[in-house]
Amino acid sequence: MTKSTKKPILRLKNVSKVFAGYQALNDVSLDVYPGQVLCLLGDNGAGKSTLIKVLSGFHEPTSGTVEWDGVETKFKSPKDANERGIATVHQFGGTFPLMSIGRSFFVGVEPTKGWGPFKRFDRKYANETAVREMQQLGITRITDGERLIGSLSGGERQASAIARAVHFGAKVLILDEPTAALGVKEATHVLRIIMQAKLKGIAVILVTHNVSHALTVGDHFAVLIRGQKADDFAKGERTRDQITDLMAGGEAMAELEAELNTLTGTINQIH
Ligand SMILES: Nc1ncnc2c1ncn2[C@@H]1O[C@H](COP(=O)(O)OP(=O)(O)O)[C@@H](O)[C@H]1O
Ligand SMILES: [Mg+2]
Repeated sequence: MTKSTKKPILRLKNVSKVFAGYQALNDVSLDVYPGQVLCLLGDNGAGKSTLIKVLSGFHEPTSGTVEWDGVETKFKSPKDANERGIATVHQFGGTFPLMSIGRSFFVGVEPTKGWGPFKRFDRKYANETAVREMQQLGITRITDGERLIGSLSGGERQASAIARAVHFGAKVLILDEPTAALGVKEATHVLRIIMQAKLKGIAVILVTHNVSHALTVGDHFAVLIRGQKADDFAKGERTRDQITDLMAGGEAMAELEAELNTLTGTINQIH
């Protein structure tokens, strides 16, 4: 599906964010489309997490606007954004290591059985649902919803968070560096699940500084450098080298190269 036939579900227009005099985001505009993976690339400190915190209702922009489904919107809180259909898996934590898989799947929306004073958490339903949803995404090793989140691998935790978003009908799924701490096999698995979410029509925003991961699943790409959008392109419009150079800041690499050449020259003179 091409962009022209679809409307963005989420849109940032000229968004800036300033923290106590420090400009973390500078005039960033972005369009997020259903059924597409938008990769947000950039070096550490580029402003990626700040950007997704604006998109997920955690930060209010200092200036600029956010449009949700064509309407200018101010998210009052992460809960507000979540209730509209924005599911965010933050970079660090976000899950509860000492909670069971079933519990954490339904945290905040606990299913109950019985009524009045007999009302209680429906553990069996929660466990079965969580396990079933994870199995549907190919996490077949998990069969017991009573297991603690802390006992899962990094990839399985990411998968459980994605399964949860899919189950509760998220329209936008934001993942902040979901593959950063994972081995190759686990990362591949998480990328596969991201593709499944996309095929269900969910708009996925994948934050990563791994160009290979981005190129594997991305439909559209935006590169942030020091809080500014340095480039914005569709799949196939840039080569891997161009993207890597841009992320590293082409200038910095050229300087390093010149320095190394001088150094090599000096060493050659000595010998
Ligand atoms: N709450 C905050 N208060 C002050 N500065 C912040 C805050 N959050 C982020 N920053 C700063 O904004 C810049 C961008 O951070 P961040 O969005 O986390 O970058 P990235 O996720 O791309 O590594 C960094 O210099 C960071 O220190
Ligand atoms: Mg970050």
